[in-house]
Amino acid sequence: MREQEPSRTALSAATHRAIHQVVEKGKIFNDPLALRIVGLKAEEVQKDYESQRSRRDIRLFIAARSRYAEAALELGVEQRGVRQIVILGAGLDTFAYRSRLRGDPRIFEVDHPATQLWKRRRLDQAGIAHPDALIYAPVDFEHDTLLDGLNAVGFDAMQRTFFVWLGVVPYLTEKAIVGTLGTIAGLSGGAEVVFDYSDPPTSFSPELLAIHEIRAKRVAAAGEPFLSYFDPPALHEKLCGLGFSKIDDVSGRQLLSRYIEQARSPTASTVESGGPRSGGGHVLFAAT
Ligand SMILES: C[S@@+](CC[C@H](N)C(=O)[O-])C[C@H]1O[C@@H](n2cnc3c(N)ncnc32)[C@H](O)[C@@H]1O
Repeated sequence: MREQEPSRTALSAATHRAIHQVVEKGKIFNDPLALRIVGLKAEEVQKDYESQRSRRDIRLFIAARSRYAEAALELGVEQRGVRQIVILGAGLDTFAYRSRLRGDPRIFEVDHPATQLWKRRRLDQAGIAHPDALIYAPVDFEHDTLLDGLNAVGFDAMQRTFFVWLGVVPYLTEKAIVGTLGTIAGLSGGAEVVFDYSDPPTSFSPELLAIHEIRAKRVAAAGEPFLSYFDPPALHEKLCGLGFSKIDDVSGRQLLSRYIEQARSPTASTVESGGPRSGGGHVLFAAT
C-alpha cells in the first residue's frame, strides 16, 4: 500500500459487492449497506450495466467469499463458543454495522491506519451508525504486530475468536502472512479464521493467466501489487504446523457453483449461469 493513502483495492472490492446487489440482486451475498458505503445508487449501476458484465467473475468471487466467511462466523458464534470477531484488513466491509448475532460478540476492525480513517469518514458521510460492539484497531501488518494492535484496544486472548481476513493475503509478504496466522493459532482461548488466497500463476491455464496478468497490472498500478501465492497442499501443511487442526479449503469455482445452484430457485433467476472461473482463488477456513 502507498504510505498515508487509503487502500484503493478496498474501494474496488466494496464496489463489486455494491454492484452485485443490483446486477445479481445480492443473490450470492446480500448486503443492505453495500451501496450506501460506496456512495452508489442502484440507478447509476444499472446505467453502466454493460461494463459490469465483463467483471462478473471477480465480482461473484468477492460476493461468495463474504458469504462463506459470514456463514462460518455465524456457526462459530452459535455452536463453537466464539465471543470475539476480528475483521482483518476490513476495508469497507459492513458486517459490523449490520450484524445481529446472538450474545453481542465484540467486533474488532483491524486495518491500515490510512484506510481506517478514510472508512470512518465514509461511514459518517453515509450516515451509518457506529455499533456499540465495534472497536477499531489501526495496524500495519508489515510493521506492527497484530497482537500489540489488538491488546491496545482491549482484546481478550482468553476468549474464542473468529478472524475474517478477506482480500488481504495476496497483497502481503509471506513473512507477514505466516506471522499473523501464527499469532491467530497461538491464542489461548482458541481461534478460527477464514481467508482467501490464490494458486501460483504457474498452475493457471493460458486463458486464466491472461486475465490474471491484467488484474495484477491493475493492482500494481494502484500501489498494491500481488505479493503472495500458495500451493494448497504446502499451505495446509504450514497451517497444521502452526497449530490449526481443522481446515476446509474451497476453490472459488466450487464455491460459486454451490451458491449459484442455490440461487437458482424458481424465483431467483438473476445469477446467470455460464462457467464461473475462480481465477485460481480459494477460500479457506481453519480452526484450532
Ligand atoms: C482488497 S482490500 C480488502 C478489504 C476488505 N477485506 C474486503 O474484502 O472488502 C485490502 C485491505 O487490506 C488492507 N491492507 C493492505 N496492506 C495492509 C497492511 N500492510 N496493513 C494493514 N492492512 C493492510 C487494506 O487497507 C485494505 O483494507
